[in-house]
Amino acid sequence: MVISDFDMTLTRFAHNGKRVPTTHNILDHRLLIDEDCSKKIRELLNTYYPIEIDAGRTVEDKLPLMVEWWTQVHELLIQQRIRKDLLAQAVKESSAMLREGYKVFFDRLTEQQVPLLIFSAGVGDVLEEVIRQNNVFHPNVHIISNYMDFDQTGVLRAFQGQLNHTFNKREGALSHASGLRVLQGRPNVLLLGDSLGDLTMADGVSEHQNILTIGFLNDQMDERKELYVKSFDVVLVKDETMEVPNAILKYITSSTDNKLDA
Ligand code: C5P
Ligand code: MG
Repeated sequence: MVISDFDMTLTRFAHNGKRVPTTHNILDHRLLIDEDCSKKIRELLNTYYPIEIDAGRTVEDKLPLMVEWWTQVHELLIQQRIRKDLLAQAVKESSAMLREGYKVFFDRLTEQQVPLLIFSAGVGDVLEEVIRQNNVFHPNVHIISNYMDFDQTGVLRAFQGQLNHTFNKREGALSHASGLRVLQGRPNVLLLGDSLGDLTMADGVSEHQNILTIGFLNDQMDERKELYVKSFDVVLVKDETMEVPNAILKYITSSTDNKLDA
């Protein structure tokens, strides 16, 4: 099976020198939120994102601060009474972009009937819309994320369930991924992420025997390289493509094809 983070792992970090939006930042669209809210969300990003990626701070130190960030942003979004029926248009008009080679990646996993678990601390409704609009929301795709809760008129009133942030994916994996029948009996895992927190995404999947981890190092390269090389099996620096995961999948699945032919 493949377990992958979404923002800045399946989506690009930057394109033509400009940052590509995360699922939270796609919501920064006038159709959905007003200027004042947009300003507040950007201020929170400028305060907390540097903490999220700071190689000098421990995860324990970051944990409460991440909860603060996510909670404040979700509160602001709820106050805006976001309408479900406008999400698709906001995604369409955003600069959201999956990594080059994404189609080969999603399509090959579908052809080979390999489950793909996307585990994201972003916004699930927006994530789904991004992959739907790119025509890769295939039946083998399973998602764990923060989903919006809309009232009967389709207005955002809360977020569902337990909050998922960058550094509590282990808890989410244990409570959600472990219950997914489709992930059972698959001992070989390919894990993709861009944060050290993503390394815990397979913790809820019992029985795994072999795990190959790939880390996309997008930002603060010099400061984090040593830590990433120590933590992931493969580290891709400033690589906006799916070339390496695709090459690994090609290698594995072509040997499966050979076995089936034999
Ligand atoms: O899909 P993934 O787990 O990567 O989604 C979380 C990412 O979204 C975080 O790495 C964080 O930088 C970003 N984020 C954001 N705005 C927020 C909260 C998180 O851009 N309000
Ligand atoms: Mg990410």
